[in-house]
Amino acid sequence: MAVVEIRKGVNLVGVRDWSKKIFDALIPLPLGTSYNSYLVKGSAKTALIDTVNADFAGELMRNIGETAQKELDYLVMNHAEPDHAGSIPAIMEAAPQAVLVATPKGVDMARLYFHVSADRTRAVKDGDTIDLGGKTLQFIEAPFLHWPETMFTYIKEDKILCPCDFMGFHTAEALYDDEVEEFTALAKAYFGEIMMPYARMGAKALDKIKDLPIDVIAPSHGPIHRNPRRILECYRKWTAGETVEKAILVYVTMWSSTEKMIRAMADALIGEGIEVRVHNLAAADIGTIAKDLVDSRAIVLGAPTVLGGMHPLGIYGANLVKMLRPPAKYAVALSSYGWGGGAIKQAAEILGPTKIEIVGAHEVKGPPSADDLAKVAEIGRTLAARIKAG
Ligand code: FEO
Repeated sequence: MAVVEIRKGVNLVGVRDWSKKIFDALIPLPLGTSYNSYLVKGSAKTALIDTVNADFAGELMRNIGETAQKELDYLVMNHAEPDHAGSIPAIMEAAPQAVLVATPKGVDMARLYFHVSADRTRAVKDGDTIDLGGKTLQFIEAPFLHWPETMFTYIKEDKILCPCDFMGFHTAEALYDDEVEEFTALAKAYFGEIMMPYARMGAKALDKIKDLPIDVIAPSHGPIHRNPRRILECYRKWTAGETVEKAILVYVTMWSSTEKMIRAMADALIGEGIEVRVHNLAAADIGTIAKDLVDSRAIVLGAPTVLGGMHPLGIYGANLVKMLRPPAKYAVALSSYGWGGGAIKQAAEILGPTKIEIVGAHEVKGPPSADDLAKVAEIGRTLAARIKAG
């Protein structure tokens, strides 16, 4: 990535990763991603806010330049995950006087993961500032967005907020938010994958920054938000758990019996005016499922019984829902079996600890009959009524 001046003395020095196709061995990255790092030069001191994946340390170094490397005073680590912190060892070696700045938990992680010596760390708390000379860095603790040590850095004079992962999204394709055609879909998928389990912490963080004048939000993945209101409004809704009259149907089928029930359910819901998204777990993209979980008010899970329990992909789907903690209020389970059931019971066990109410279930032996499909449609109409009721 070429170096880009965001404001005078604030440069984007990160890298684009076009070839990474899966993140955390879980999340597909159809458009790659970027690791955004920001070099902030005051009249007296220089700071680097976050680094990049270790594979790109050389490119980061070139972007920073030899002089700035040697003169670097502070390396701000907003987050310790290696996609942003992996180049810390290289930077600390190249910048002999640099001090790593992080939350107290961040300092512990920097020592554990990146072997930064204690005498080269500085723990900061909420509201602490560092004066670079005409550029003031203010630190805002933002725990569990999405690790316990996370914080934001605010560049006061330029009104730039650097929230690391929060309000970022995965694409290598654009520099600014208004250049991204698929803005909402990408941002929503990213929120669902990374931030939705911590939505409450996200809402707290938004409340904490609500009075800060913000001209630019410069996250550590994807485009820089030079129109910050758009992403702020998305995050306000998503962290509040606002849902719409929408249901996500995720299923796996072996010989089409469960699929027929899912189709009957989808038809019934659509007939009642409910927005529907259907995902076959055998081929689905987790990012798309996560995106649809962000604002769906109901979830329908379909899975056959196989070898005495729910089909493994059904278990995967149910566990994904439990793990991502979507704001959905209602669920329905549909299943078919050959000679012994069990999938519905297992779905209820997995979803039991969540706050999602199972409002209906239907399990059939063999292919569903016309009566079975009518029963599924009836459950669908009941579900639609609950969805519309809010
Ligand atoms: Fe982009 Fe949590 O690292």
